[in-house]
Amino acid sequence: MGYVGPKPAAEVLLGGLKRLEYRGYDSAGIALADDGSIFLQRKAGALRVLEEALAKSPPPVSHMGIGHTRWATHGGVSDHNAHPHTDCSGEIAIVHNGIIENADDLRLELLSQGHILRSETDSELVAHMLEHGKGDLRARLSDVARRCEGAYALLVMDVHQPDRLVAVRRTSPIAIGATESEAFVASGAIALAPWLGECIYLDDGEIADIRPGKIEVFRLEDLQPIAKTLHPIEGDGAMPDAGEHGTFYRKELMEQPIAWRRVMAGRLDELGQVDLSQDGIEENLLRAVQRVVFLAMGSSLHACQMAVERLADVVALPAQAELASEFRDTRNFLEPGTLAVAVSQSGETIDTLAALRHARQLGANVLALVNAPGSTIARESDYVFDLRAGFEISVASTKAFTTQVIALELLTAAFAQARQRPLPPADLQALRAVPTVAEDFLSALRLPKDLIDACAAAPGVIFLGRGQDLSLAREGSLKLKELSYVWSEAFAAGELKHGPLALVDQRVPVIVCATDPRHAVKLRSSLAEATARGAYGVAIGSELGATLQLSLPLKERIGAYLLGALPLQLLAVDVAEARGCPIDQPRNLAKSVTVE
Ligand code: AGP
Repeated sequence: MGYVGPKPAAEVLLGGLKRLEYRGYDSAGIALADDGSIFLQRKAGALRVLEEALAKSPPPVSHMGIGHTRWATHGGVSDHNAHPHTDCSGEIAIVHNGIIENADDLRLELLSQGHILRSETDSELVAHMLEHGKGDLRARLSDVARRCEGAYALLVMDVHQPDRLVAVRRTSPIAIGATESEAFVASGAIALAPWLGECIYLDDGEIADIRPGKIEVFRLEDLQPIAKTLHPIEGDGAMPDAGEHGTFYRKELMEQPIAWRRVMAGRLDELGQVDLSQDGIEENLLRAVQRVVFLAMGSSLHACQMAVERLADVVALPAQAELASEFRDTRNFLEPGTLAVAVSQSGETIDTLAALRHARQLGANVLALVNAPGSTIARESDYVFDLRAGFEISVASTKAFTTQVIALELLTAAFAQARQRPLPPADLQALRAVPTVAEDFLSALRLPKDLIDACAAAPGVIFLGRGQDLSLAREGSLKLKELSYVWSEAFAAGELKHGPLALVDQRVPVIVCATDPRHAVKLRSSLAEATARGAYGVAIGSELGATLQLSLPLKERIGAYLLGALPLQLLAVDVAEARGCPIDQPRNLAKSVTVE
């Protein structure tokens, strides 16, 4: 976060950092220009710890500063590794997101030149490299950026260049905005919302000179000026509030029916017709597609795995869901007619972005399904499907995941329609009905204490599924891990006897996802194998003779899948609370994973 202008800079920086807090971090700091020198305060821990330190030694009234919340990569979590970092003279300060991959070589070079390095971070090196070179700050930063390999968003201030910040981007996002009298920079537009209605986004290989009322952007390569487009900033600037729900995770879990209605609005009509032309997805595009490759990570990948099942089953269209982090290194061709579909809540996940760029190089058209239409993944795609789930603050995804499932079902239905084999009307009616059914289902949904206690005390929890339910089992397992830190794993039910059954005893709950009734008979046998060994068995969907049967009020596959996600999401938070875990920001995790 950066600020130049008449307001007290410390207040603006802390306000912006608070709005980015939900993304996850482990330390925080600010640097302020103070009459020819730099005031620096950095603290390991929550922003609150930084604020307490600032209350004890109040910062100067300054009108230029930068701030940062760090998620440790190089160097442990400590005050001295927290950003901002300064050069030897303490006159230049920098903050950095990303990883500088040639840091070892640069460190040796700087040490041999006599620089005093005070942290173990790769980021500090940039401050020292800026001491060298000729020209003004922009020229120096562009020289330094060219020498750095890896990913970075860098924001720099120099006390000798008042009223000016300089930022450069390679891969990690930067949003910038200005009014006549002030200028703001942040790693996400959400941080700018209290002060600005629109902003520009730096693209890769761009450097920005930022002054009140004036933002100039240049190509890093040759320093040629670039005209940028202003994008609206979503939200009214009010701090999001979890209200009566206590945590954003519970709030977002409960507000899923609203998000589901929003994603369907204008795309699915009462007659079951799907129309994605508002997203630029026309029938001729859909007809030309021969194969779909989904690229995503985490929960977003699970939504894609469900879509692969659906496309194969109802459209007979070959599709695969690829772990985006593996795609770039393992794929060197794509069949002609491949549509790459990048699915990402944040639109900034670096693994997904890198896979998207690789797919493009291999000749694919790219469709982005994102919850942030101004994000990098959206800007680099040919088509953008906005999920409209609303801000998801909790690091563990709920409404974004289920909204992705609906968006992908709409895409499946559009493919089916374009190929003259529309989905059965009952499926689409169930989809339209699911928000209302889910409202009633959610208001009555409670999990028994003995299940929560069993999971909270378990050495591990096993999730099972077949077909579409395997992706649901994976999602249930991921949620439980993220929130409660209970070790869990998802298996295809058929795998159980081939090894995992050795893990099962009376302490290991086994949760079977059974939202597709076609697999009920086989799933019943898998569950019986586990309960025969004393496991606490849970069935979600079809009746399987479990210790706990959670039946669902819709039987159609997509409707049941969406409803089946709800008890899994609830289980994760109930178990996490029973174990005293923080809910919205689990340890070690970040909302927007912008490092590889
Ligand atoms: C979900 O609960 C996780 N926090 C995580 O797996 C997430 O889905 C993944 O990092 C991908 O994020 P994205 O959708 O923003 O790309």
